[in-house]
Order: sequence, then C-alpha cells, then structure tokens
Amino acid sequence: MDKIRIIGGTPLKGNIRIGGAKNSALKLMCASILTDGVLTLTNVPRLADIRTTAQLLESLGIEVAFETPDGDGAPQRLVMNGGTLNNTVAEYDIVRKMRAGVLVLGPLLAKHGKARVSLPGGCAIGTRPVDLHLKGLQLLGAEIELDGGYIVAVAPNGLTGAEVTFPFVSVGATENLMMAATLAKGTTRLINAAREPEIVDLAECLKAMGARIQGAGSDTIEIQGVESLNGAEHAVMPDRIETGTYAMAVAATRGDATLIGARPDTLGAAIASMEAAGVIVDRVPDGMRIRCGALVGTDVMTEPYPGFPTDLQAQMMALLSTAQGASMVTETIFENRFMHVPELSRMGASINLHGRSAMVRGVHRLTGAQVMATDLRASVALVIAGLAAQGETIVNRIYHLDRGYERLDVKLAACGAQIERIAG
Ligand code: UD1
Repeated sequence: MDKIRIIGGTPLKGNIRIGGAKNSALKLMCASILTDGVLTLTNVPRLADIRTTAQLLESLGIEVAFETPDGDGAPQRLVMNGGTLNNTVAEYDIVRKMRAGVLVLGPLLAKHGKARVSLPGGCAIGTRPVDLHLKGLQLLGAEIELDGGYIVAVAPNGLTGAEVTFPFVSVGATENLMMAATLAKGTTRLINAAREPEIVDLAECLKAMGARIQGAGSDTIEIQGVESLNGAEHAVMPDRIETGTYAMAVAATRGDATLIGARPDTLGAAIASMEAAGVIVDRVPDGMRIRCGALVGTDVMTEPYPGFPTDLQAQMMALLSTAQGASMVTETIFENRFMHVPELSRMGASINLHGRSAMVRGVHRLTGAQVMATDLRASVALVIAGLAAQGETIVNRIYHLDRGYERLDVKLAACGAQIERIAG
C-alpha cells in the first residue's frame, strides 16, 4: 500500500490549480441515465471515485469514454451515452466502494421504471442511512422493498410529481429526488431541500438537458416533469472542498499561495471561519490568495450549506491545532467523524473529545509521526498536520486520498512542500 512521506516546516508558496468538484461530477455522471442522448462533462477530475462511477455506469450498459488530454493534470472530458443502457441492477461490488452509487436509483426509476441497487458503502463516518431517498421516491409513486442488501424499486406506471418535505437537509436525497422528478408526470416541490453549490451545478446540467427546474440553491426546488431529456455538454464546477483544503494547508504552514480557478462564492462559512482564525483570504481575478500570519483559536460548527462544511472539519481541526488559544469544533452532520483526533494527538495536538464536540488547545508546534489515514477528509487533515509539523511524518493507507484528491503530492511539492509518495 502506498504511503506519503512529508518533512514538515516549509511554508507553501506559489500557485495551486483547483480541479473539478468530485462531489458534483459523481452526481452529474448519474444524470446520464436520464437521457437516450450523449451527456458530455468537461473539467472532470482524475480520481478513483470517478473511475468507480464510470464502472458503475458501464455495468448498466452505458458507453463511457474518457477523453484525456496530454499533459499532467489537464482536466478530462467524459462522454456518456445513456441510450445504450440495458441493465437496471447496480451491484454490491461497485456500490459498496462509494456511497454516491445510490444516486443511480432515482434516474433508473424515472427513466426505466425499475431499479435494483445495492445499499451503499463509502467512508466509515457514521451510519449514513438512505431512508430520505426512499421515502421521497415513494411519495413520487415508487414501490420499494429491501431484499438481501438491495433496494428493489419499481414504478410500473412511471413516477408522478408530489410535494416532498425533508425532515432535515440531505444533499444526496435532494439530488436523487431532483433527478427523478425531471421525468415524473406533473410538478414536484422539494421542501427543506439542500442548498449546496453542487445541487445548483446538477440543476444547471439537467436544465441544459431540457429539464424544467426552479429554485435550486434555495430551500424549495420546483421541478416540472418533461417527457424526455436530451444530451448536453456541461463543465463541472471547481471543487470547493479541495479549495478549502489547500487554503488550510497554506495557512497551516504560514505560507502564501494562490488557488487558481477557486470560486470563493461557493465556500460559504468556511471563509469566515478561516478569517476568524487569522487567515488572510483575498479574492483575486483568477481565484483566491491565501496568506497567514498569527493564527488564533476560533469555534467552528459544521452545518448544511452555507454553514461550515463537514467535509472541511478535519482539515480545520489540523489548522487550529497550531493556533494560539482554544477552539471548539462541533460536528453536527455525522456522528462518527472524529477519527482523525487520535492520529492528530499522536503528532502532539492537544484535543479532548466531548460527544459531538472537540476542544482543541493550540500547541506551538506539531511533531512528525507515523499516522494512519481512516477516511478521505481525515487523511488529508493528517497531510496538513504533517506539512506544519517539525520532522518526518508518514501517512499510511493513502488510498483514501486518491478517491478525492488529484495529484495531491505533486500540487503540494510544486509549492515547495517536501513530500513524496512511496510505492508499497
Ligand atoms: C454529506 C454532506 C455533504 C458532503 C458529503 C460527503 C451535508 C448536509 N451533507 O452529503 O456536504 O459533501 O456528505 O461527505 O453536510 N441522512 C439520513 N437519511 C438519509 C440521508 C441522510 O438520515 O436518507 C442523514 C445522514 O446520515 C447525515 C445527514 O442526514 O447525518 C446529511 O446527509 P446527506 O447530506 O444526505 O449526506 P451526503 O449526501 O452524503
């Protein structure tokens, strides 16, 4: 298994190019099921989760072609032909690798009237049920049962628009329902919908395919069903979590770097929280410049967008571990998302857990250590800690990183980091 070796202490300086958003691309790929035409995505990141989703679509019969230009790290185009779909079963072997796999359920039901989809896997950061997805689809007329670890769903007469009120905000359920409703008869209203920028990106792509959607980005989305959707071309939005991650890495090393292509308007409360900690964030024409002098503790609570994203909680904790004073970090989205805490503690961080909150007392300096990556965002938090620490850090089990960060070691090394990947 590959490892990452870091000698910490060098401030990151230079430019880092931000790629297309993983969490958007995965859902956009599932939208190809809704059309008999060709959906082309540009600005697609080169990531393991993208390849897994491509395999999932291929297993349904969809022809998928990656057009990868020459040159390190140039974004790729992805061409998907929904017209070749000939199977509505999403097998356990693929879906277990990645929770976003359950996003084929709504499109399969809407377009083909039936689906058999394995219950999902993904990062081990809590129980992560899919009950809201299923209840919402039932309101649209689907008949659903669970059988041997699979969701078995049918809609013999197609789906019918309905009013769906989510009891709490779910990004995945909003996306599944929004896609399903595009081909339902009549109007669907999603109330208490997620407002994440990835929902807006998906709505834009669906609209380019001919869907009628209003209100994406607000808490009420209205979808008027249409007979069919056509093919389209759509550019994946820049990755706001990759942006926040590099911003925190630059700040943790007290560096000065520009994140090229970043869209600060999609970062929500993450920018305000970094600024409260003393990070200087400047909006520049081609992205965002990050600098940092003295860091001070600040309290952070994860919330649905536009609140502070759960996907940046671990990275922010690594950053605050080196701030002056104390910070309270509270996780409200997932119940088991503090797996990075014992590993950060092994690097000298002072963190006490109390239920869903972590009290972080800043230390003058972290020290390098051997650490173990446990999930995608926890892994990158250990990389940030390693970049800030004195001495050598080895991050083991980095396959998690490859699911969500493209050429992380290369991008950091280009800004002066002493980092290398060791094949194992
Ligand atoms: C969540 C994050 C998203 C992040 C992604 C990957 C939020 C609101 N969502 O999206 O920003 O990119 O993880 O880490 O921050 N839930 C249910 N039943 C369901 C669906 C969800 O109980 O049917 C619960 C989840 O367990 C969780 C909460 O609702 O506690 C939010 O889940 P949801 O937004 O659906 O998760 P993801 O779509 O994975």
